[in-house]
Amino acid sequence: MHSQSSALPAVDLLLPHPLADLTRGKYAVINDLWYKNAVIYCLSVGTFMDANADGIGDFQGLMRRLDYLQGLGVTAVWLMPFQQSPCKDDGYDISDYYAVDPRYGTLGDFVEFTHACKQRGVRVITDLVVNHTSNEHPWFQEARRDPASRYRDWYIWSKKKPPGANEGMVFPGVQKTTWTYDREARAYYFHRFYDFQPDLNTSNPHVQAEILKIMGFWIQLGVSGFRMDAVPFIIGTKGAAVRKPAEQYDMLRMFREFLQWRLGDSIILGEANVLPKTDMEYFGDDGDRMHMMFNFQVNQHLFYALAAADCRPLTKALHATKPRPSTAQWGLFLRNHDELDLGRLSAQQRQSVFDAFGPDKNMQLYERGIRRRLAPMLAGDRRRMELAYSLMFTLPGTPVVRYGDELGMGDDLRLPERNCARTPMQWSTEPHAGFTKSDKPILPVIDEGPYGFQHVNAAEQRRDPESMLNWTERIIRMRKEVPEIGWGDFTVLDTGTRAVLAMRYDWRNNSVLFVHNLDAAPREVAFSTGLRSENGSLLVNLLADDHSRADARGRHYLLLEGYAYRWYRVGGLDYLLKRSEISVEQAIKRRE
Ligand code: NOJ
Repeated sequence: MHSQSSALPAVDLLLPHPLADLTRGKYAVINDLWYKNAVIYCLSVGTFMDANADGIGDFQGLMRRLDYLQGLGVTAVWLMPFQQSPCKDDGYDISDYYAVDPRYGTLGDFVEFTHACKQRGVRVITDLVVNHTSNEHPWFQEARRDPASRYRDWYIWSKKKPPGANEGMVFPGVQKTTWTYDREARAYYFHRFYDFQPDLNTSNPHVQAEILKIMGFWIQLGVSGFRMDAVPFIIGTKGAAVRKPAEQYDMLRMFREFLQWRLGDSIILGEANVLPKTDMEYFGDDGDRMHMMFNFQVNQHLFYALAAADCRPLTKALHATKPRPSTAQWGLFLRNHDELDLGRLSAQQRQSVFDAFGPDKNMQLYERGIRRRLAPMLAGDRRRMELAYSLMFTLPGTPVVRYGDELGMGDDLRLPERNCARTPMQWSTEPHAGFTKSDKPILPVIDEGPYGFQHVNAAEQRRDPESMLNWTERIIRMRKEVPEIGWGDFTVLDTGTRAVLAMRYDWRNNSVLFVHNLDAAPREVAFSTGLRSENGSLLVNLLADDHSRADARGRHYLLLEGYAYRWYRVGGLDYLLKRSEISVEQAIKRRE
C-alpha cells in the first residue's frame, strides 16, 4: 500500500461552493437555526473569575473575560445555575428562581452580562432547574408548614413510606433514599436527587404555569434558551403509587410553544440520558418538542472507542441516534460538570473504560462513572486530547466545551464527589491562578503537579502558538467553516479496521470527510469516499498540506500516525471549476 499525497496551490477550497445554493432551495430560513452549528462553552460563574476579591467568581469577573471567550470562537455560553441557592448541589438547589445569588452579583449585573454577550454576537443559555427546588425555597417551607397551603400540592407527599422508597436514587452510594420524612409536614416527601432537593409536582398545572413564568422572566433578560435539567424526571409521573414513571411528553411541547411564542429563536437543550428508541419522543416527530438534547449514547461509546481503539460500538451509537427532525440537533460533549456516566455500556465495555481512564476507586463515582477531567484521563497526552476533541467537533451535532478543557486543566481528587472537576479557572501564574485576589477561593485552585496553574494557565498558553488553547481556537475556527456537520447527512465509510473511523457528511452538493485513528500505533488505510469517482477524487486537507488523490479505482490511501486525525473537504469537479478548467454550465451538467 502506498500513500498518495499531492501539493495544491493555496486556492480557497474551504467554503461551500456557491453552486450548492443554486441547485438547492430553502436557503434563508434554514440558516437561521443558530444552534445547528453553534459552539457552546459551559461555565459556572462562581469558579470562572472573581472581580470583587471575595473568593467567589461573579458576573463582573465573567464580563472581563468575555473577550477571551469571543477570541476562542465560542458562539454561545451555557451558565450553570446562578440563582439564589444554599448551594448544596452546586446551585442545582434553587431557593429563588427570580434572583441572582448575591455572591455572584445582581440582576443588574446579569443584564449587563447578557448585553455584553449580545454585543459580541455570543448567545447565552442558562440552566433551568425545575424538577425540584431547594428545601429552603419558600414554596417548600410553606408547603410543609401548612397542609392547607396552596403550595402543599406543589410537592409530592405520602403519609406512609412508599414501598419503593429505597430505589431509583440518582446518586447511589451517597443518597440513601428517594422519600424522606419531614416532621413538620408529618409526611414523607419525594426527592429524585438529594434529600434537600424536594421534587416539584410537575403535573400540577400551577407548577407548570410557574415554570413558564420562570422561562419568560429570563428570556426577557436576554437569554436565548435553556439547558433543561433532568428532563425525564420532570415529565415522569410522580407519587407514592408510581412504581414505573410514565413520561408525559406533551409537556415538552407546551414548554417549546410557550418559549417560541415569547422569543422565536430561543431553544431548549434537554438533559435526558435516555435510550435511542425514545429520542424521537423527546424531539417530537414533527420537531415540536426539544430543539436539542445531549447525546449521552454517543458520549459513552466515544469514551469506549478511545479506551479500546475500537470504533464499532460508537458507529452503532451514531446510527442509533441518527433519526431526528431536521430542525433538531444533538449536543455533543466529552466531559461535563458531572461524572462521566458509563451506565449504558455493557459491563465489559465499562470495565475497559474504567481500566483505561479511571482505574482507582477514588476516580469512580455513583457505581457507574468516572469523575475526572478529560486531560488527566488521557494522561495529559496532547495527541490523544486533540484526537478526542477532533472527534467531538466532527461527530454529528453541536459541540459543548467545558471551561478549562481548552487549556487541558486537571482535577483534584481530594475534593468530594463531582467537585474534583469543578475547580477554579486557571488564568495565570499569579496567586490562585489569577482567579481571585482573596486567599479563600470558593474551591481550591489546582496548585501542584503537572496540572497546577504554574504549568496550565491561559496567560502562558495565549502566547504560545502551539498551546492547547491556540489549537482549540484554530479547530473551532475550522469547525465553523464546515457547516455540513451540523446540517448534513453522515455516512460511516469502511476503512477495513476498527481502529480508524472515517465519516463523510453531505450537504447541498458539498462533502467533507473526517478520519480518526483511535490507536496509538500508525495505521495504513484504504477507502473510497462512496461518491461517484469524479466527485470524490480529491481530498483537500483542511488542517495541513497533505492532500489525497484517489487512484484510478477511486480509492484513497492514507498513512496515519498514532492518534492522527484528518479533516478534508471533498473535491473533484469543484476543484477543476475553481481553477476555471471547465465552465459552470459544464459542471452542472456533469453533476447531473
Ligand atoms: C443534573 C445536573 O447536571 C447535576 O449536576 C445535578 O446534581 C442534578 N441534575 C440535580 O439537579
